[in-house]
Amino acid sequence: MLSQPLLRLASAVSRRRMKLLLGIALLAYVASVWGNLVNMRSIQENGELRIESRIEEIIEPLREKIRDLEKSFTQKYPPVKFLSEKDRKRILVTGGAGFVGSHLTDKLMMDGHEVTVVDNFFTGRKRNVEHWIGHENFELINHDVVEPLYIEVDQIYHLASPASPPNYMYNPIKTLKTNTIGTLNMLGLAKRVGARLLLASTSEVYGDPEVHPQTEDYWGHVNPIGPRACYDEGKRVAETMCYAYMKQEGVEVRVARIFNTFGPRMHMNDGRVVSNFILQALQGEPLTVYGSGSQTRAFQYVSDLVNGLVALMNSNVSSPVNLGNPEEHTILEFAQLIKNLVGDGSEIQFLSEAQDDPQKRKPDIKKAKLMLGWEPVVPLEEGLNKAIHYFRKELEYQANNQYIPKPKPARIKKGRTRHN
Ligand SMILES: NC(=O)c1ccc[n+]([C@@H]2O[C@H](COP(=O)([O-])OP(=O)(O)OC[C@H]3O[C@@H](n4cnc5c(N)ncnc54)[C@H](O)[C@@H]3O)[C@@H](O)[C@H]2O)c1
Repeated sequence: MLSQPLLRLASAVSRRRMKLLLGIALLAYVASVWGNLVNMRSIQENGELRIESRIEEIIEPLREKIRDLEKSFTQKYPPVKFLSEKDRKRILVTGGAGFVGSHLTDKLMMDGHEVTVVDNFFTGRKRNVEHWIGHENFELINHDVVEPLYIEVDQIYHLASPASPPNYMYNPIKTLKTNTIGTLNMLGLAKRVGARLLLASTSEVYGDPEVHPQTEDYWGHVNPIGPRACYDEGKRVAETMCYAYMKQEGVEVRVARIFNTFGPRMHMNDGRVVSNFILQALQGEPLTVYGSGSQTRAFQYVSDLVNGLVALMNSNVSSPVNLGNPEEHTILEFAQLIKNLVGDGSEIQFLSEAQDDPQKRKPDIKKAKLMLGWEPVVPLEEGLNKAIHYFRKELEYQANNQYIPKPKPARIKKGRTRHN
């Protein structure tokens, strides 16, 4: 039997042990909670790191864009002449983001005028005029000329219209609307604001000509229901509208009948003979000649055309004027020349004749020489070399950007959706 004092001692010891055990348990609990907290913190830190790097991934391209924007603010523009208020004109160029329109815009801008480009980017592109974006004399408006336009201008160069067969045949109704309603709208604008309007007409108004070379008083030989009619007849009626506005409303008009033109910023794959041959030669493909190749064409370099357009606009000549290079070549000669300039071993391949393909086309430019003092000055080979250089760069650009624009096919099936 244990004595009373011994029992008390034993219970005191077991209480202390209990306390000790409780203390240890408490410590273990606190340690485990702490461990969990530390663990959660490191998971959270890892998560934060991942989020941060994701944000970084998203932000980096934005930073790049800001850097580009900053660069564009400090962009160096091509040199621009200073013109006094009296000489500086407000000029509208419809179709100004296209091939000819963008070169015309360059000239007008460099001459010191204020230029507004209006384009629906059907065949034009911003890249053609991007070097002017931000310049105080320049404005770019995304607008379809089939809709009315209300701006204040002194001169209108009306170029808006698809110009190459695959493009104008892609949507013939739209081509007709652009050349008819679009031209009416621009003539209406010219009337409202008292501006002079120059229409970019075409040698296609002569159709498959029976006289050679074509003078301005030749009325033409056009098939009104053929595949080219939407363009040829569209331009013919556009000319008619110009002279109706001149006679009835006193609008000052100028009409340029433009013959085949080539140069940098032509469309890739636009189906016209120059771009076709150059692209085929650069890609080592056969140069395709439709028919025997004995059809003739005369080609002018784009800077010659632009000088002619500006001379005509600022002249007193209100009747139509041919602008083209009278140096005539057969399609076959042309294919051979390009083949030699590109310098590779492409073959020439003959295909069956295209429908309504004009057999002869050569401008008579006596009127332009006499009344505008204008004639083409750029030799064919020099112009071709510049065009070849441009197409080579374009092919490289496309390869680097993995972007190959497909030529827009001519409409074949009925009922296909398209934007009129
Ligand atoms: N390049 C030539 O050899 C040639 C020959 C004869 C006539 N032309 C005439 O010269 C003008 C320019 O031809 P281009 O070779 O520069 O052609 P392009 O296709 O490069 O330029 C035409 C421009 O007009 C724009 N456009 C078309 N429809 C429009 C619309 N409804 N509203 C607003 N913009 C529209 C296009 O987007 C494009 O920028 C055309 O009127 C064409 O008929 C050109």
